[in-house]
Amino acid sequence: MKIFVETDRLILREILSSDDQGMFELDSDPEVHKYVGQNPAKSIEECRKTIEYVREQYISNGIGRWAVVEKASNNFIGWSGLKILTETVNKHTNFYDLGYRFSKKYWGKGFATESAQASLEYGIEKLKLKEIFAMTDPQNLASRKVLEKIGMKYIETFEYDGKPSWRKEGELATWYKIIIPTL
Ligand SMILES: CC(C)(COP(=O)(O)OP(=O)(O)OC[C@H]1O[C@@H](n2cnc3c(N)ncnc32)[C@H](O)[C@@H]1OP(=O)(O)O)[C@@H](O)C(=O)NCCC(=O)NCCS
Repeated sequence: MKIFVETDRLILREILSSDDQGMFELDSDPEVHKYVGQNPAKSIEECRKTIEYVREQYISNGIGRWAVVEKASNNFIGWSGLKILTETVNKHTNFYDLGYRFSKKYWGKGFATESAQASLEYGIEKLKLKEIFAMTDPQNLASRKVLEKIGMKYIETFEYDGKPSWRKEGELATWYKIIIPTL
């Protein structure tokens, strides 16, 4: 099992087929899905397919979202990290996107910020990226706060066009970016 990053309270590691129960707890919750497409998982089988899909991205793209484990409990608490978005979104294609999602009982403890910060640092230091993007629903104030706390800059609000598979056409989203200064 590959561990990518360790922070004070978290382990960010590859997602495993054994995370299926944790993923189902996370993804079957309508509140978790409020700002991410409102299509909660209906079966654990769906979550197993998601895990497979992420693991395929590790191979085909060299990166994908990581499982987040709380050190204190050894529990799977959600996912966080970078992925390459191969679809065209807001006129960008094949870009590094930062994202995160946590089970409700772990909200409000700073875990999103801690994991997102560590993921950004990994992108900058290990992957030598020049820019990293993120997007959120405009109403998702908690997520916007996380992005701002880790130093990402709000660029604009845009409308999904084309057909990003996870969104409805015409829906609004905010677009954030971090530009890594070249020394
Ligand atoms: C968004 C999410 C990842 C935040 O996780 P978290 O671990 O609670 O985030 P953190 O504790 O690191 O930070 C949240 C910040 O937002 C603030 N916040 C939370 N709800 C807020 C609200 N409704 N309005 C304004 N700020 C809010 C918190 O106070 C905190 O800021 P602070 O540290 O200055 O107090 C979590 O709620 C989640 O998983 N939601 C469902 C999936 C999702 O929406 N993912 C993001 C998609 S873009």
